[in-house]
Amino acid sequence: MRLDSRDRLIVALDLPSLRDAQQMVERLGDSVSFYKIGYQLAFASGLAFVDELVRGGKQVFLDMKLHDIENTVVKGVESVAKTGVTFLTVHAYPQTMKAAVAARQGSKLKILAVTVLTSYDDIDLAESGYSQSVDALVARRAQQAYDIGVDGLVCSPEEASPLRLAVGHDMVFVTPGVRPAGSAHGDQKRVATPGQAIKAGADYLVVGRPITGAADPKAAAQAIVEEIAAAAN
Ligand code: C5P
Repeated sequence: MRLDSRDRLIVALDLPSLRDAQQMVERLGDSVSFYKIGYQLAFASGLAFVDELVRGGKQVFLDMKLHDIENTVVKGVESVAKTGVTFLTVHAYPQTMKAAVAARQGSKLKILAVTVLTSYDDIDLAESGYSQSVDALVARRAQQAYDIGVDGLVCSPEEASPLRLAVGHDMVFVTPGVRPAGSAHGDQKRVATPGQAIKAGADYLVVGRPITGAADPKAAAQAIVEEIAAAAN
């Protein structure tokens, strides 16, 4: 798979209102072709924005991290598939993944599995009733996702290399936790630069605040695309 460097950058539109999101997309113009909509914007009229983005020729990643009974997941994914969204996240539980994969058949929608949330450590897992370590559970769920036919994984930059070895190149890897050298980490604990994440095996990078919070968001996005291009060669 050979992707255009610009299409490998997904900007997280974690903004409080539809107006803020529309203004950000306008400012970024042609420098960005792919946007992620998560809880914050989705629950502030952002779902209606999906259609506007798709009609404007942009790709959309809907980060809804679905997890429910099979019938509910199927019906939800069928609705998302009709909107022209490119990526949709689900939690990596086998029932949920099977339902999502079946429901996206015949559309261009790709399902991404979230293995273990990166804010979880071994203690958090134990508290939730799991006896496995984060590493073991990530590996197990990634393998299950692969076997079920899930299209890709959301993974941290440091998970990308070992997961690539485990599942090969059939799955797309989408990687948050990316910070250009010298930019603020915010609440991200394990970060990598765009170049490091690409070299570790990421296909797509999700970047939010380093772009949306920059004095010049367009210049920040262009610099990341250039770094992706340099690392991909
Ligand atoms: O602003 P920042 O670049 O940290 O945004 C990263 C985006 O990726 C956020 O929308 C966040 O919810 C998402 N994300 C993450 N870590 C994960 C999964 C998703 O940061 N493990």
